[in-house]
Amino acid sequence: MIILACDHAGYKLKEEIKAFFNSENISAIDVGCYSPDKVDYPDLAKAGVERVLENKQNVGIFICGTGIGMSMVANRNPQIRAALCTSKITASLSRKHNDANVLVLAGRYTSKRKAIKMIKIFLTTDFEKGRHQERIKKF
Ligand code: RB5
Repeated sequence: MIILACDHAGYKLKEEIKAFFNSENISAIDVGCYSPDKVDYPDLAKAGVERVLENKQNVGIFICGTGIGMSMVANRNPQIRAALCTSKITASLSRKHNDANVLVLAGRYTSKRKAIKMIKIFLTTDFEKGRHQERIKKF
C-alpha cells in the first residue's frame, strides 16, 4: 500500500498525486493533512511512518515545502529509509542503491509532472541488493 503524508506546504502536490492515483486506479492511504491550513510536519511524518511500518510492502510518499523536515523526522525511525528526491535519477537510485521505503518530495519546488515521473520510477524500481545490502546493514 502507498501511504501519503503532507503538511500544508505539500498539500497541493499531494492532492494532485491523489488525483493521478485515482485516474490510474492505484490505491493509496492518505494520512493527511486534509486542507491547506497550517500544521506541523513532524506530526504528519510520524503518522505516515506508523502506517508505512504496518507492512513491509508499504511505501510512503511524504511531502512538505522543501522535503527536508519530512525526511529528517521520518529517518529518525531505524526502519525507515526516506529519500528526498529531486530528479528521475535520484528517485531511481534511491530504490536501486538505498532500498528507500519513503519517497520525499519538495511540494514548493516540484511540479506535478515531475513528481508523477519520479513516483512512477520509485514504485517500479527494485533494490539491487548485493553490496548495497551490506551497506544498508551498516546504518
Ligand atoms: C513549512 O513552512 C515548511 O517549513 C515545511 O513545509 C518544510 O519545508 C520543512 O522542512
